[in-house]
Amino acid sequence: MTTKKNLFIAFEGIDGSGKSTQVNLLAERLKQEGHKVYTTREPTDGPIGSIIRDIMKGKMEADHRIIAGLFVADRLDHLLNETNGILLKLKEGYTVITDRYYFSSYAYHGAHMSMDWVIDANAMSAEILRPDLNIYIDIDPDISMNRLNNGRSATELYETTETQQVVREKYLEAIEKLKLEENIFLTDGNRPLEAVAADIWKEVSTISVGTI
Ligand code: ADP
Ligand code: TYD
Repeated sequence: MTTKKNLFIAFEGIDGSGKSTQVNLLAERLKQEGHKVYTTREPTDGPIGSIIRDIMKGKMEADHRIIAGLFVADRLDHLLNETNGILLKLKEGYTVITDRYYFSSYAYHGAHMSMDWVIDANAMSAEILRPDLNIYIDIDPDISMNRLNNGRSATELYETTETQQVVREKYLEAIEKLKLEENIFLTDGNRPLEAVAADIWKEVSTISVGTI
């Protein structure tokens, strides 16, 4: 019998690449197709995520290794917590779309320490749940920083063009490194949002209907 598979999809990209815009567009499109959709993000809205947000906003200081460790813990909470964890939502039949997952750690922390260390530190999350699809929105950091600077006044810890350039390189390095283990779709985010959304839908629609 043909049915709708409930998927786990992770969006990735540097700050301002258009992830949250595309998460919302994809969620709406999947709902139109009859999927139950749950959208979520990292850092999470849970207790560890809120510590991370304070660090990002400069309210609290922490070494990059500590930040990397906090993200490992936040991700496990994101997966496993019994109120609104991803595993629970999948069990309830939702397609889950997350704005960031472990590739964000590989790219952002891989910019400050060995990427292999970061991959190893996140091995438990990868073992528990690999995305059916990682969607990486690739964008020129000058363009994404302009978009962010037009939208708001405060900047966060990693939001400089120089840092974003390094993070973009690390994303590309991680994608190359893990291309055999992970299902990754790269899309050109420098284009109008409708063009990006159309590309993403084309890719997702190939995996969103399955058989049981
Ligand atoms: P992220 O979640 O990756 O930080 P957002 O989706 O919040 O990115 O987008 C950052 C800003 O850029 C927002 O103001 C958004 O409206 C705008 N934006 C998103 N996608 C595009 C696009 N393809 N072209 C132009 N502006 C965009
Ligand atoms: P986010 O609020 O998603 O920022 P944006 O919407 O601008 O993309 O993420 C906050 C910051 O956290 C962002 O700069 C990326 C960083 N981050 C990490 O450093 N490691 C991680 O594992 C994750 C998930 C995010």
